[in-house]
Amino acid sequence: MSSVLFGVGVGQNRPVVLIDDVGGLGPVEVEPARGGGPVTPASRVCARAIARSRHLLWGVGIDWGTGTGLLAILAARIPTVERVVAVEYDRTAVETARANAARNGVADRVTVVHADLFTAFDPADQPTIDSLEGQAAFLLANPPHSDEGDGLEWRRRVLAGARRLLRPGAVVLLQVSAHYTEERIRGLASEGYEYVETVETSDWVPFDLSREDLRRALTVYVAEEDRGGIPYEFRLADGRVVSAHEVAAGAGDPHTRWQVHHIRYSAPPNGGACSSPF
Ligand SMILES: C[S@@+](CC[C@H](N)C(=O)[O-])C[C@H]1O[C@@H](n2cnc3c(N)ncnc32)[C@H](O)[C@@H]1O
Repeated sequence: MSSVLFGVGVGQNRPVVLIDDVGGLGPVEVEPARGGGPVTPASRVCARAIARSRHLLWGVGIDWGTGTGLLAILAARIPTVERVVAVEYDRTAVETARANAARNGVADRVTVVHADLFTAFDPADQPTIDSLEGQAAFLLANPPHSDEGDGLEWRRRVLAGARRLLRPGAVVLLQVSAHYTEERIRGLASEGYEYVETVETSDWVPFDLSREDLRRALTVYVAEEDRGGIPYEFRLADGRVVSAHEVAAGAGDPHTRWQVHHIRYSAPPNGGACSSPF
């Protein structure tokens, strides 16, 4: 499905990841973003979700936390999509995403803004975000894990911040892995958002506890279960479903599925009195 090449052009002998054609949108070649991170299995599931949902994507859209720019590039290849505004916190990733958009022939349709959530670092860039107010027809987001609460705080912030930018009926494609549980994932869709369906899912993949970030995430989940939160659902090799507590107690090797969910933005809550924090 992909390979790593050593490319010239954007960087000097920096590896370039080639993502084979997904759903007719053509192959994409991206230089990994130093700050924004690599192309991960979750990125690939998002890429497939965009291809699968291409008939729903049109007009102007947002790619939140664009990283390499991969999702914005794919969306910009959809003929009905005019333009994608991609926001990214990491300065070097912003430059990489811009270069990747150019490398893949969509620089004229992808605008990358250096921003924290939806606030541009340079006030001169804020109008690019604000011009979307009530206009954006889609939002793509593969946000980071949060060390607060149940681990989904970044997803909630992205949905809350995007509310003022989305038009009624807008399509949100949000990456959330299966171990968060269907109940918790559906619960993200509130205050103007409605859960529609899971659009893309990977096979069962190891929740690899040799990774420091995943061990830290497990600690966050255990703390949430201690507070009485919905138990997380990891799958073991024998098919048993276990909680974060049971995983932490050594129940076995946990597995999860990378997933992308379609959430629809229907209307601002309170009949139009938008409760955006901005
Ligand atoms: C999991 S990566 C996803 C990257 C890319 N969209 C993909 O799917 O491959 C999350 C991205 O969100 C960016 N990010 C983190 N905090 C942010 C913030 N406050 N505002 C904007 N972007 C942020 C990170 O720098 C990173 O590039």
